[in-house]
Amino acid sequence: MEPFVFFGGKGGVGKTTVSSSYALKCARDGHDTLVVSTDPAHSVGDVFDQSFGDEATPVDGVENLWAMQIDPDDEVTRHLNELRQQLSEQVSTAMVSEINRQLEMAHGTPGAYEAALFDRFVEVMRNAEPYDRVVFDTSPTGSTLRLLGLPELLEDWIDRLMQKRKVSIDLFEKAAVGNNEPRRVMEGDPVLAQLQERKSFFEFAGETLRSDAAFFLVFNPDELSLNETARAISDLEASDLSVRGLIANKLTPAPDDDETGRGAQYLRDRIATESKRLTRVREEFAPELVATIETRTAEVKGDLLAAVADEIEIDTTVDPPSAAEQ
Ligand SMILES: Nc1ncnc2c1ncn2[C@@H]1O[C@H](COP(=O)(O)OP(=O)(O)OP(=O)(O)O)[C@@H](O)[C@H]1O
Ligand SMILES: [Mg+2]
Repeated sequence: MEPFVFFGGKGGVGKTTVSSSYALKCARDGHDTLVVSTDPAHSVGDVFDQSFGDEATPVDGVENLWAMQIDPDDEVTRHLNELRQQLSEQVSTAMVSEINRQLEMAHGTPGAYEAALFDRFVEVMRNAEPYDRVVFDTSPTGSTLRLLGLPELLEDWIDRLMQKRKVSIDLFEKAAVGNNEPRRVMEGDPVLAQLQERKSFFEFAGETLRSDAAFFLVFNPDELSLNETARAISDLEASDLSVRGLIANKLTPAPDDDETGRGAQYLRDRIATESKRLTRVREEFAPELVATIETRTAEVKGDLLAAVADEIEIDTTVDPPSAAEQ
């Protein structure tokens, strides 16, 4: 299994629960494991009854396990401030207020949140040496995955910019023969450097996600969740990322055979409906169904987490990373 494992799926299906359980399973099998969560509402903190922040922190009472909780709001703000800082160093003061205005607007766009999170994920992957495995509680969605096509786009852009800079630097050189300054201007061009840096960042992201990451999708046995899963599979495929497996969570538990009351009948009816849906998943969805997890009567934490971990039949061994190290 690849060193980076993502669990995606629509809201509330059980991504946090499943990724925490799988991370626990990896840790118990002796792999140094980091679980990264991004959900401010119900997160790894609730599952492990411990509060986590932006820095990886050992999980109390579990050997080999660390957790980290990224706050997406903080991430967007940090991202914005960084951009503002970088840009203000490069443009005239007259432009700073216009740039600030544009950035504020970008801050509010739906993609900003996801893009900032994606950046943070990539950063975590870039700095993952201390761990054998990193488990991400959520996977990039369609709109973020499109960022993986960015290197090619940037390549074009960088080429054209270089061309323009060359022309102006040539003119400059002709005007100032014998001066070494222009060459240096070209090499140290902050705008080009920035673009190059973004380009290699996304190249790393694409390479790592394609060769060192495995994606799993969690779903619940309802139509909405099934449709969403089908969409997520094709979104990932469109970016050359394949889904390794599907996890059905919150399945209705069966009553004992000798129970005949209305409650038992209700459960049997539900199970019949759910099993039709699972058959559809097995027949129509390309990725394999790798785990079926029943609904528990209580929040999945503590001992229950270990029980759920036992139901997740996903390999925990770690392949060495193959993507080019940066
Ligand atoms: N198998 C299960 N049995 C009982 N409760 C479950 C099970 N799986 C998840 N839950 C509960 O359902 C709720 C949602 O689960 P979880 O937080 O893992 O979903 P999520 O996909 O991470 O949600 P979000 O999209 O909000 O991040 C939680 O309260 C969790 O304890
Ligand atoms: Mg969650």
